[in-house]
Amino acid sequence: MRHLLDTRTLSREEAIRILDVAEDMADTQSREVKKLPTLRGKTVVNLFFEDSTRTRISFEAAAKRLSADVINFSAKGSSVSKGESLQDTAQTLQAMAADAVVIRHGASGAPHTLATSGWISAGVVNAGDGTHEHPTQALLDAFTMRRRLHGAASRGRDLDGVRVAIIGDVLHSRVARSNVWLLATLGAQVTLVAPPTLLPQDLSAWPVDVSYDLDDTLAAGQDAVMVLRIQLERMNASFFPSEREYSRRWGLGRERFARLSGGTIVMHPGPMNRGLEISPAAADSGRSTVLEQVTNGVSVRMAALYLLLSGERGTDQTTNEEGR
Ligand code: NCD
Repeated sequence: MRHLLDTRTLSREEAIRILDVAEDMADTQSREVKKLPTLRGKTVVNLFFEDSTRTRISFEAAAKRLSADVINFSAKGSSVSKGESLQDTAQTLQAMAADAVVIRHGASGAPHTLATSGWISAGVVNAGDGTHEHPTQALLDAFTMRRRLHGAASRGRDLDGVRVAIIGDVLHSRVARSNVWLLATLGAQVTLVAPPTLLPQDLSAWPVDVSYDLDDTLAAGQDAVMVLRIQLERMNASFFPSEREYSRRWGLGRERFARLSGGTIVMHPGPMNRGLEISPAAADSGRSTVLEQVTNGVSVRMAALYLLLSGERGTDQTTNEEGR
């Protein structure tokens, strides 16, 4: 794997390979000594142009547990125009011989630009770009579903026939987009549930069903419900009448949660707006995978960095597996 920029172009085999390597990584994470020597001498740069806590520390933990050196570069607030600043920053990282760059950027497509610009030779991992994609989040979500639903027999398997409802602010969500593509590739059946104002206008190319009634969708039976954060920071207009109205119709409140059928798991990428899109009753229940998602995120990111940096990279790299 040369870069990890999106899930849209990830094949089923590539996705399952990442999930299986993540299983191997997870096995090592239950040991007392969690650190592996695998990426000793490699340098991973976390390049974050947008605020992030959990994703940045998750990538940092993943790189450190593989013994890579980690440089955290928080570039938020730079006033230089986006293209120029990205080029300058990239060339600086190239001069420092970064092996992998993990980038989060407010502009959709920034990781792709970085990967294809020729400014750097490092492998690029998209850690969230605008409203476009957040591939490692979707991979950790798929990993979490696979483990909850298939248990010890997860390896090698996809999510064929698994029913997933993705609820809420799909319009602004890169998590939703990455999940839609990956879940479709893995054979899951996805239903988007949201007010029309929080859905993209043209969904004709999306492999999903759409519903405007959350209770109907939940009554139909779902294996997983994925609640999205209302992304107030990306909203410059009124997308719903009031927070109370949103909670009432689209939130996973206490009563709605209590009506969920037997094995349904409750997912949320974090950070949660408790009391808005999700109630504490749902978020803190035994069906909630919120903290498992965080734990699994480290294993999935270890897998991604390992596959990028360990010699299993594409043939367009500058050195091959023999180091030539
Ligand atoms: C997501 C993101 O930043 O896209 N969060 C995350 O990666 N931890 C989702 C969100 O912010 O709602």
